[in-house]
Amino acid sequence: MARVFSGIQPSGELHIGNYLGAVRRWVELQREHECFFCIVDYHAITQEYKVAAMESQTLDMAIGLLAAGIDPERAVLFVQSHVPEHTELSWVLTTVTPVGELERMTQFKEKAQRQESVLAGLMNYPVLQAADVLLYKATLVPVGEDQVQHIELMREIARKFNARYGAGFFPEPQALVGQARRILGLDGESKMSKSMGNTIGVLEEPESIWQRLRPAKTDPARVTRNDPGNPEVCNIYTLHRYFSDPETQEHVARQCRTAGWGCLDCKKVLADNMARELAPMRERAAELRGKIHEVREILAVGAAKAREVARETMQEVRERLGLLQPIRAEEFTR
Ligand code: TYM
Repeated sequence: MARVFSGIQPSGELHIGNYLGAVRRWVELQREHECFFCIVDYHAITQEYKVAAMESQTLDMAIGLLAAGIDPERAVLFVQSHVPEHTELSWVLTTVTPVGELERMTQFKEKAQRQESVLAGLMNYPVLQAADVLLYKATLVPVGEDQVQHIELMREIARKFNARYGAGFFPEPQALVGQARRILGLDGESKMSKSMGNTIGVLEEPESIWQRLRPAKTDPARVTRNDPGNPEVCNIYTLHRYFSDPETQEHVARQCRTAGWGCLDCKKVLADNMARELAPMRERAAELRGKIHEVREILAVGAAKAREVARETMQEVRERLGLLQPIRAEEFTR
């Protein structure tokens, strides 16, 4: 049984990119492994965000994850800021992380372009991410492709720490990347991502799914209804692969290649299948929204479980660093 850790930012709805790329895998892994899943609110504050919305977005993300099948009896689900050892270890790790490595991170370079002056938190983002995983000495990290570079760096940080403070202390975590490693957004060009406004939410109503799919990009070569298309280059067809059965996929591909269907016909079938597939999650989420206290309790229990492990690792880390330990109250002589 391996230890698994992964995280997700509470920066908006859980979308089908998150779901197919990562969360669906989390649900499978929790059956056989010891899993820690974390809503990473300290990461989310490295970019502009609405302070007044953070609390509800964090709860929404918890609801989304539970609705998607994360089972608090099997996995530890918690909020990053509830376990202060994450930021504590992060500080320690900054002292073994070369700045040059942080500056070279693709996500940093992309996001830095959007900030007027680049803030240190954005640059240190991957160090906090390394702390998240290393704190639990987790070895498997199920993520989408965009996180692989951060996990490579995490391995390097672990090596550097081990080289300085003791061989084998932190295991080197491995990225687990599945088939749906990079789901494209509805623009058919960039990665599906909240910041691009090209998402479909896992909990969206059927009508809303349809409204989003209607204008979505398809094969650019299909200019008119009668032009035959190539499903292999169409993002809508890619989505059929995840939401429609094999027979429907074959039918859709044939109708596209022969211009038997227009793109709207194809999208309608996808919208229906997607809405059907996601219906149980929508129902579970509606139920959980009526039991917010229970959701908060799940998060509190999760944080307490996570903290047991986190405290122990941090204690070992302080010892490795050679820091003076405080004496306990029962040892006081005055
Ligand atoms: P975040 O919140 O951007 O995304 C959560 C997970 O969803 C995956 N993902 C995608 N996969 C395929 N196609 C897409 N279009 C797509 N969009 C998102 C992401 O790869 C990710 O697995 N830095 C991380 C959060 C994090 C973390 C961690 C992850 C913090 N600490 C420790 C793993 C381990 C992030 O911003 O993910």
